[in-house]
Amino acid sequence: MSVAGVATREGAYCHNVRKVYRVDRERVLALDAVTKEFRRGDFTVIAGPSGSGKSSLLRILACVDRPDGGSVEIAGHGVADASARRRRRLRRYSIAFIFADPVDNLVEYLTAADQVRLAARLRGVRATGQEVTEALARLGLADRADHIPHQLSGGEQQRVAIACAMVGGPPVVVADEPTAELDSVATGVVLDGFRVLADTGAAIAIASHDPRVIDRADSVLRLDHGRVSESW
Ligand SMILES: Nc1ncnc2c1ncn2[C@@H]1O[C@H](COP(=O)(O)OP(=O)(O)O)[C@@H](O)[C@H]1O
Ligand SMILES: [Mg+2]
Repeated sequence: MSVAGVATREGAYCHNVRKVYRVDRERVLALDAVTKEFRRGDFTVIAGPSGSGKSSLLRILACVDRPDGGSVEIAGHGVADASARRRRRLRRYSIAFIFADPVDNLVEYLTAADQVRLAARLRGVRATGQEVTEALARLGLADRADHIPHQLSGGEQQRVAIACAMVGGPPVVVADEPTAELDSVATGVVLDGFRVLADTGAAIAIASHDPRVIDRADSVLRLDHGRVSESW
């Protein structure tokens, strides 16, 4: 709470968000009146069946796409009407995006340590060798620093991606079905990694319909045909 007693939202917040896709003359109402706070330190799961609007909401939270109605705040600042430049800056410095397929999250020819170093630089931070080692160690990858993606399992690659999302401390991390390509053992270890990340103070929004992911949530937003069917 701020001194004035007005809630200060430091993670991400969406209020009454609406998204309509137009394809030729068809209109698809993908999100309708979606309101949710994604608090820093919390692991929030956006659940719901395929086509319910999870990815659409993540793209809006990540400032990749704009809502057609409602408002979005990142670290306390409204972004729905922000300039393209401001949105680019937010994407670069304040938001990390993790995709389902590990291959999409990493540079094919860089070692795990160099992936983390690059992620820090892109956020305008120079990570020391010790910071890189620490980030990897916190994800259980201390002995994998010199390995390139194809020498790592899918779960290890996703943990490198989480280490990349940790450096520079972006307040908001969104992940779209980050365990979809993993078996249950790797899923558990990757979820441990997201917990480590949440404990650093990031607001984490994970889209998933996997019960194992939902079981670990601090907070859940369930969508059904673009509408909120459960929120806690
Ligand atoms: N770029 C797009 N153009 C048209 N329709 C889209 C587009 N992206 C998503 N949709 C539609 O919006 C709805 C929600 O999709 P999506 O957000 O991808 O759901 P989920 O991630 O839960 O599977 C679906 O009906 C989907 O077909
Ligand atoms: Mg999706």
